[in-house]
Amino acid sequence: MTRSIERVAAVGTAPERVDGRAKVAGKAPYAYEHPVERPAYAHPIQATIAAGRVRGIDTARALAVDGVHTVLTPDNAPPLRRGQDAELEILQAPDVAFRGQIIGCVVADTPEAARHAADLVAVDYERRDHDVTLASDRPDLYRPGEVSHEADTEDGDVDAALAGAAARVEAEYRTARNHNNPLEPHTTVAVWDADGLTLYDSTQGVHSLRSAVAEVFDLDESRIRVLAPYVGGGFGSKGTAHAHVVLAALAAKRMSGRPVKLALTRQQTFTLAGYRTPTVQRVALGADTDGRIDALAVDVVEQTSRVKAFAEQTALPSRTMYAAPHRRTTHRMAALDVPVTSWMRAPGVCPGMFGPEVAMDELAERCGLDPIELRLRNEPDRDPETGKPYSTRNLAECLRGGARRFGWDARPAAPRQTRQGEWWIGTGVASSTYPVHHAPGSAARIERRADGRYHVGVGAVDIGTGAWTVLGQIAADALGVDREDVVVTVGDTALPFASVAGGSSGTTNWGSAIVAAAHGFRARFGDDDPPAGSEHTESAPENPDTERFAMHAFGAQFAEVHVSADTGEIRVPRLLGVFAAGRIVNPRLARSQFLGGMTMGLSMALHEEGVMDERLGMVVNHDLAEYHVATNADVPSVEAEWIDEHDPHVNPMGTKGIGEIGIVGTAAAVANAAYHATGVRVRELPVTADRFL
Ligand code: MOS
Repeated sequence: MTRSIERVAAVGTAPERVDGRAKVAGKAPYAYEHPVERPAYAHPIQATIAAGRVRGIDTARALAVDGVHTVLTPDNAPPLRRGQDAELEILQAPDVAFRGQIIGCVVADTPEAARHAADLVAVDYERRDHDVTLASDRPDLYRPGEVSHEADTEDGDVDAALAGAAARVEAEYRTARNHNNPLEPHTTVAVWDADGLTLYDSTQGVHSLRSAVAEVFDLDESRIRVLAPYVGGGFGSKGTAHAHVVLAALAAKRMSGRPVKLALTRQQTFTLAGYRTPTVQRVALGADTDGRIDALAVDVVEQTSRVKAFAEQTALPSRTMYAAPHRRTTHRMAALDVPVTSWMRAPGVCPGMFGPEVAMDELAERCGLDPIELRLRNEPDRDPETGKPYSTRNLAECLRGGARRFGWDARPAAPRQTRQGEWWIGTGVASSTYPVHHAPGSAARIERRADGRYHVGVGAVDIGTGAWTVLGQIAADALGVDREDVVVTVGDTALPFASVAGGSSGTTNWGSAIVAAAHGFRARFGDDDPPAGSEHTESAPENPDTERFAMHAFGAQFAEVHVSADTGEIRVPRLLGVFAAGRIVNPRLARSQFLGGMTMGLSMALHEEGVMDERLGMVVNHDLAEYHVATNADVPSVEAEWIDEHDPHVNPMGTKGIGEIGIVGTAAAVANAAYHATGVRVRELPVTADRFL
């Protein structure tokens, strides 16, 4: 096991975010606001066809606009290294793979001139028929999921077991195309000088972004610096490099020394920053008369772009949630003429828990069991996928504790039992889970300075999660000093390497590095008053327990839903989540993460859906006026609780990650509650009024 922090004094307290006041006061400079000398402004030109190629671009009218310096096109753009990440290799060929793809860029003295001129560029296209529709009846389109996990798994004989099951659910569930909408859109400031390239970027990972840019520009990483001290949200859309970053750097290169600023508009972020693929999930559950699951199958169809394969890991949570002797999971991807799919909060796990957790609700009804009791009867004692013991698995405690807290006992077993005025009222539950991800290599530097304080540097990024604050708490305890004596710096590739702020893994990876560096620092300089200038850098060691245990956080989501008998309007007056996510470093910030995740889950349940116009090949509701995101009025009461979980295996802090689990299961809990209210089973997200009429 890894060496734990010995002292827990700052950890467990609830200081405010170190960046919080600056952020709400507008004093935290975001990437675009970073002051640079005489910036020029770039505005992307985007394809207005979904498939084909650019035959020619007439830039004359754009170049005639006052203040316009240049128009980059595939004909004149500086060369990039190709063959690694086709999403980033822009303006190297005339092909168009999706509507909204970058096919050029105007650089001007003002953002207004650049945007206006971009509209004046005339593009001649050679069109090809496009296919942007995810359908489950076009087997020619599909290929196995790839990238980071096995596409398919199979144990036993699922079909035979299903045929012989006493209780059975077989149904198709669908989740919608969801778009990441961080408050701060995606922006980049690019500066080339004799030393190389500096990027002020709104990113979730300065080092990972640097690697991607180094690759495509064929530059040594030492010649690129990426800074991101403040970031206004990402939800995964800033976790990988996207094309606009390369575009800003290309434009700055063309401007030979003049810095270039680029901000995507909200509409542009719908095509250029990644989004969550829609999914079709065929779920089958077979159980005996006691509700013990004998067969479980999850067969997923999802989409990817033609430009670059991205496999949403939709069936993964089903591999670890419930044991069954006969199990199957499959992923098939349709490569369509659509923008690049990518990460969105709890990628894979979030959509992947919708179908199975609604199916569990359906199975409970068929078995005549309470849905919590069904879940408790199917708690595995080992990870069904790997056979390894769980480092900790406290789902049962979350379900039982949540049931008490929520008042589950008073719930009528049958649906459509409670009516108040025009409203049908119901409650529902779903389980939640998220893996504990570990990424190697994060390091931290600790320096005692003349101010008497311990300065901790790690190239982490705080995207609004509170990581910056939490790392200071961890450092204080690991060093055995007061939190006030620790100053943490993040968001700069000049700091020691840090993994990306993604997969709810920041605290695990960066915290482990800080603990290692603090222990190393103490070993070198002693426990008392080391002299100013004492400095030590160390990487997080590998954690051998990751091989021996299955590591996941768990939770239980409860929802109360009201559905209008007259209009079908659906309201969610009450959400409760109870989580088992290891040690909670800062209750104030952790609560905020859980509540944010649950609210986003509610948003997914009721509102969020990118609507594809199949003729144009574009999402038509590509702004916050028409792509609805939950606001305060949607969430009268959201409460998050957690159990006091001690996990000595996950990392030296005992933390499991809290950024994503809150969104997982929420939509299923809402759909299950809507069924309990009305007797109408909705298997497709979002759950909208028309389904109840
Ligand atoms: Mo999260 S979607 O892994 O940034």
